[in-house]
Amino acid sequence: MWTTAQLRRLTETPYADALDRQAGAGIANFHALPIGSLAHAPDGETSAHAEQARRLFGPRMLAAELTLGSPELDSYFRAHRSLARSRRLSAEAFGAADTHYVTTGTTGANQIALEALRSGTARVLVDRSMHQSIHFALDRLAATVNYAPTAADTAEHGVITALRQARAADLRYDVVVIGVSAYDGSLVQMRRFLHALHELTADTGIAVLVDEAWTAIHSFHPAMRRNAAVACVREALEDHPDWSASFLVTQSAHKSMLALRQGSYVHLLASPDRLPQLRADVGAALYRVHTTSPSLPILASLDLARAHAVAEGETLVERALTLSARLREVARRVPGVAVHEPVPTAGGAHSAYLADPMKVHLDFGSPERAQAVRRELYDEYGVYVSRQDGPTLLFTVHVGVTPAQLDTLVEALETLCCAEVPGGAACSDGRYIIAYPPGIPLQVPGEHLPALPVQQIGEELYSTF
Ligand SMILES: Cc1ncc(COP(=O)(O)O)c(C=O)c1O
Repeated sequence: MWTTAQLRRLTETPYADALDRQAGAGIANFHALPIGSLAHAPDGETSAHAEQARRLFGPRMLAAELTLGSPELDSYFRAHRSLARSRRLSAEAFGAADTHYVTTGTTGANQIALEALRSGTARVLVDRSMHQSIHFALDRLAATVNYAPTAADTAEHGVITALRQARAADLRYDVVVIGVSAYDGSLVQMRRFLHALHELTADTGIAVLVDEAWTAIHSFHPAMRRNAAVACVREALEDHPDWSASFLVTQSAHKSMLALRQGSYVHLLASPDRLPQLRADVGAALYRVHTTSPSLPILASLDLARAHAVAEGETLVERALTLSARLREVARRVPGVAVHEPVPTAGGAHSAYLADPMKVHLDFGSPERAQAVRRELYDEYGVYVSRQDGPTLLFTVHVGVTPAQLDTLVEALETLCCAEVPGGAACSDGRYIIAYPPGIPLQVPGEHLPALPVQQIGEELYSTF
């Protein structure tokens, strides 16, 4: 995916290196952030609370909680040294013209992006299913907002339908806001969307905010990159050099890459006639909206996350794809569990959407059962599932999920959801059937037990059912 020279360059971490050096320098801080002093406090000479802070955050993290001011650490709002270089490397890795780092999450990044794009009294078309950050930010702007309905017919994206209708009515939008990677794993078919968007706005021009919150890591895997927002927008702009268009793509790096929480990228792409203005508008919006106390550890983590993704992203995404395929395969064999795809992808190959293969939706038959499984997974196995939608639990197999963790999940699902047999419960991953208790296989690879009846799961083990 990268040339050797690119690999060497894009895995540099200029900002993280600078922070590392500064954090180790033991500088006495006469500005702010007293918590940083705990990094250097001698053991036993601090209060119980200070000790707890040291235990919780670690001396190195505390030492990295620096304020700005060192030339080496650059200026956040007028970057020209390590931060500027780090951002340039990230832009190159993703394929953007420019990239900004935001330390207030994609909630903040979306606010900044809308502030940059609105240009006066813009008429804005918004994908109805956007994250709350978009709706709240639009509330605060003096823009005329229309909502594109989430289309029942998924062959065409609702935003495209709304644009088509507006064009027929001689109505023009200045800004389009679209979410292309939702928490549930539905991804917009970017090439198809951009093709239609170009057709409808080739003569008028358009500014677009693309919220790609969940899938920043996709840019680092050759197959997944084919649908990644930045790569697709870049390709569309190159294919249509006369298209006057500007794009901002926001990504929660922390959701899918090795960034600290609230680390977000804002990528800029535009036709040559719009790029200078877009750069200026984003710079101004950042200045107006972003906190004046950006977290330096988060900035460093955005630098590291890109380098890590360039070096290992492909391998780790591949591993995640293998693990999620295994989870689906096992779940198909577990009694009482069904594997689902997110609803909008029901249109198959002709859908405006794709399903993210790194997300696995398991249906447990009823909301009560799903809730009980979720609770048991957490209480008994230390497995956390954040999303329940009715009878369905959503398992995100991100690049941090290890094979051992997936083993734990598989074992837990088999134990919790299996058919009851005398003395316990049994289920199968196709190779083993293991009764629990006591956890000893009833079937091992090469053996075939007759099908077991699915019965009510035992009261004493699963009293919450
Ligand atoms: C689609 C979408 N956009 C934006 C956000 C906000 O991101 P963050 O949590 O980084 O502020 C989320 C959060 O879940 C999201 O799902």
